[in-house]
This record gives sequence, structure tokens and C-alpha cells, in this order.
Amino acid sequence: MTEDNVSKIKERLDIADVISSYIKIQKAGVNFKARCPFHNEKTPSFYISPERQIWHCFGCQKGGDMFTFVKELEGIEFPEALRILAQRAGIKLETFDPAIRDAKTVLYEISETASRFFEKQLFHSSVGKQALAYLKDRGLREDTIKEFRLGFAPDDWHSLGNFLRDCGYNDQDIISSGLTIKREGGVDMHDRFRGRIVFPICDINDQIIGFTGRIFSAEGGPASGGEMEPPAKYINTPQTAIYDKGRVLYGMNKAKMEARKADRCLLVEGNMDAIMSYQAGVKNVAATSGTALTPSQLQLLQRYTNNLDLCFDVDQAGLTATRRGIGLALSQNFNVKIVHLQDPQCKDPADYVKKFGQKWQETAMAAKPVIDFYFFKLKSELDLSSVEGKKAVIANLGPLIKRLVSEVERSHWISKLAAVLKTKEEAVEADILSVKDDLEVYTSHQQEDSVKKPSIVNKLSDDILSEALLAVLFKNPKIFHDKIDAINLALFDPVTTQIISKLIKLDIKNFKFDDFVKQFEGDSALRIEFAHLKSQELLKDFTDKDLEEEFNQIKNKLEHRALIGKLADLELDIKAAEASDDKEKLVSLAGQFNELTKKFPK
Ligand code: UTP
Ligand code: MN
Repeated sequence: MTEDNVSKIKERLDIADVISSYIKIQKAGVNFKARCPFHNEKTPSFYISPERQIWHCFGCQKGGDMFTFVKELEGIEFPEALRILAQRAGIKLETFDPAIRDAKTVLYEISETASRFFEKQLFHSSVGKQALAYLKDRGLREDTIKEFRLGFAPDDWHSLGNFLRDCGYNDQDIISSGLTIKREGGVDMHDRFRGRIVFPICDINDQIIGFTGRIFSAEGGPASGGEMEPPAKYINTPQTAIYDKGRVLYGMNKAKMEARKADRCLLVEGNMDAIMSYQAGVKNVAATSGTALTPSQLQLLQRYTNNLDLCFDVDQAGLTATRRGIGLALSQNFNVKIVHLQDPQCKDPADYVKKFGQKWQETAMAAKPVIDFYFFKLKSELDLSSVEGKKAVIANLGPLIKRLVSEVERSHWISKLAAVLKTKEEAVEADILSVKDDLEVYTSHQQEDSVKKPSIVNKLSDDILSEALLAVLFKNPKIFHDKIDAINLALFDPVTTQIISKLIKLDIKNFKFDDFVKQFEGDSALRIEFAHLKSQELLKDFTDKDLEEEFNQIKNKLEHRALIGKLADLELDIKAAEASDDKEKLVSLAGQFNELTKKFPK
């Protein structure tokens, strides 16, 4: 049945459409290309073939069909990818299909059900109506409140929990959703969100994964009465199987297409800020929910744009976190600008929109490049003619300038600083390199997050070589039909060997790629598709002569690699012989070793 759904979905959806809803793609002949979302690159080596309905990156070797793409990109398992694509294709999946009703599905359902409960409370309960009035008083329109599905959690310990039980969910699942809490040793669970306005948090596919709750006390009584400490203004769903605070951006599901269209995205701190901005017409907006930008959030943003406008509280508490986020964004090749609210009474975009309405659009557009912004700020705070002032500027801007990926931009700033500080460019540059880098810790953490395992390297180069060989063969099978014997097939993995031996047996004059690939399935078929795509794209303008040269190079590389393998084996044998003191064997092995090294190209 799953198989059935997969083919139905593939019939209805086009791979290029699916991928383009995640990343920017551009037409390149019959195919599309893009900057690979799975590794960092400046020039596109990620290709999509609408004809074959596959994608493949020649840089990092990832590839597959639309399901693999969604899985990889969202970091999810197959059942979820199936659900997402089925929804897109308008195909209703039978919920009793055990493959798709996994643990996460229940959590999505519970979150959705809870959201309906909260919405109802906001519009129909008496305290809820007070909360609704409060939201309107803050400047929100009713249609906006509905669009963002805001709700109200009653000031009660059990109302949501009991409602979810009545809906048929078991306590364990309800607790796993984060909506209720069971204290260790406690008998019963209780609601997490009590007496709060709730903002459902959606993933990029509009599925609710968690909630933020803002304190709201009804007239005449404190919320969550009885607690000693004043409750936090905002609380969030804790980490669950579907919610990870560091991976989502509030409102990004609504902002994504707008961000792609405008090729920029505005980031604000608070949920209210994002909604108010959206309502005032700046819809390419998402909120970081008061935390520092994380590498995964930046990765998410990079699917849509490389231009970030930040409107954060640039003072005190927010400052270091903001600075780190900026440093991280700059080193990931984002252009970062800062939106400045030029009104001392407005501490955030929500205040600003309430006061100035649509004027927010202009203010948001007037964002200043981040280094300019900090530079002007410093200029007004420091005496730039003093040595201390100069040092402070370098200490402040140095770590940011250092992270600019563009050399042109970096040198622009170095010249500018040299002029303003009345020093030599070389001195500024040297100081920037040696200045204490307050953003370093954070960056190295980020690298930890994305390190490629070294063990993959060898496999990767094997894959690349076999892919390269197949690509050359597919480009013009006729000219290689007789030459292929020159290649020692044993040097390849079994799949490649099998593919090539089938290719040799073919009636090459009537070679048709389509027929050829039909003889294979699964991974082997995919390998062939990738190589074919490579021949279409990377060998597009290759003449037969070029192809032959390429073929010879691959052949040489293969032999070279085989040689290294043999030498490594011999080395091990020699060590073993040494250990067992087998002199005779040692002499023979050393002889072989010498012979082999002579074969190395000079
Ligand atoms: P702020 O504390 O800056 O919001 O938190 P604010 O502007 O004062 O709040 P309003 O406008 O009166 O409602 C900004 C964001 O940080 C997160 C929330 O997502 C909030 O929207 N936050 C804040 C928390 O997660 N926990 C907190 O205790 C405070
Ligand atoms: Mn606010």
C-alpha cells in the first residue's frame, strides 16, 4: 500500500516543484541546478532532472528521488516525508497504515487537537475573551489572530489534559507532547500552559509542533495563583520528538515564500513582533523566540535567501547573543543588515507597528549593513582620535569583519577603517587578525555540529571515480565499447562492475539509456541515473577526444589507487614478517615493495 502511495504521489508531483519549494533552483537546459543544500558551496553542483525525476549533487554525492530529498532536507524519516508529500499531492493516506502512524504522528495530532482547544477557549470562554480583547488592544486584527491560530490556555491544572484524554489519547503520548507535565513520583499529570495566551509553533510544512505561552492574568486575579515566584512571561514547549527550539523559527512557515520572493528575510525576537510585522505587510518575517540564532536556523534560512535583516533589541542582554548570531551568519555567507527603530518609545517591532502601522514597511526596508550599523554606533559612543577608541573599534568590529566571506567586502572595510582611524591599512588588517576573537567559541561549536566524518572520504572518492567512468561511457558508449577491457573491473565495487559488464554485452549501436536503466532497480538504478545526469551536465560540451582523455585519466587514477592499496597491504605484511622475524619472507616482500614503488608516476 505504501508502494502504491509512493507511485501515486510521484505521478502527481513534479520533483522540480517539490525541491523549488525548499531551495532556489534555476533552469539549466533540460535540467535544473541549484546550490546544494547539503554542503556549503558557492557554485551550483546540485542538479535536478525532471525527465528522470531525480536529483543529485556532484559535489557531495547525495541524491535520490523526491522522497529522499524531503527526508534529507527536513531530517525526517520516511513516514513523515510520505505524509508531507501526500498532503501536497492531495492524497489521503489511510491512517491505519502502520508505516505512517509512528510515534511522531501521534504528537502532531495531539498538538493540532490542543491548538483547536486553545483557539476555542480564546473565542468562547469568558477569560479567553478578555485575552482576545487584550490582543486586539495590542493592535492585532481578528483575521490575523485567526490566521496565526492564537489561542488561550485556561488557568486550570487539568482542562487540556482531560480534553485530550476525552479525545482518546493516552497519558504517555500527551506527556510526550510536552503539553502536560508529570512530576517525578507524582500521581497525576497537569497542564503546562495555564492562564496563558498560546502561539502555536509550526514547522516549515504548517504542522504544529509546539507552543509558546504568554502570561495573561484575568481581571481580578493572578494567573496560576498560588505560585511563590512570579511566573515567566513566556514559556515554551520543551524539547520533544517533534519540537527542537534551536531548529525552528517562529512564523517561517508563513514567511518562506515571501522571503524567497523578496530574497530577504527579517528576523525579530518575539512572537508578537513577527505577527505584528506580518500584519503590517512585512510578511517575510520570522522570530527567533528570544534565543541566539543557531546554525540549524541559519541553514533553514539559507534555503530561501542569503539576505538577513535583523531587528533585535541591540542593548544589554540581547547584545552578546545577537553578536554571536551575526558572526555566525556572516561566516555562512549571509548579508546581514540591521533594522533600527528610530523611536525611543518603541523597544521592539510590535511596539513600532502598533504606533506607526504600515510605516513599518519603510522602516524595515531602510536596514543598514551590519558593519555600518555598528560602526556608526561606535562612532557616537567613542573618541576615535584616542588610542583607546581606535582599539575598541577594532576589538568590536574585527571579529565581524574577519568573518566576511567576500574579500572585496572585507577589504572595503579595512580601507574605510584605516581612513577613519588615520592608520595604515596593513596595521588595521594585522590588528583584525590578531584581535581577541570573542565569537570564536561559538563558531567552533558550530563546526562540531557539521563536521563530515573522515571515514566517508574514501568511499566518496570511490563513488566519484565510478560515477565519472560511467558518465563518460554513457556520453558516447560506442567509442568505449572496445576500450573498456583496458580497465580492471575488479578495482570497482560490485555494483559498478555489474553495470559495466552489462554495458559491454550490449548491442551498442542501438544503445538507449532508457532501456538500459530498466534492467536495474534500487540503488543500482540510481547510480546509473546519477552518472547519466553527470554526462548530461558536466560532459555537455565534451568532444570524443575530450572524452577519451577523461577516460584515460580515470583509468590512471584507478591504477594509482590500486597501487596504493597494494602498497598498504605489503606494508602490513612486512610488519608481520618483522614481528615474526621471518628474514626470508622479509627480503622477498621488500623486493616486491621496491618493484611497486617504481611504478609510481614521477
Ligand atoms: P521579550 O521578553 O522581549 O518580549 O521576549 P516582550 O516584547 O517583552 O513581550 P510582549 O511584547 O510584552 O509580549 C521576546 C521573545 O522571547 C521569548 C518569547 O518567544 C518572546 O516572544 N521568551 C521571552 C521566552 O521564550 N521566554 C521568556 O521568559 C521571555
Ligand atoms: Mn514586545
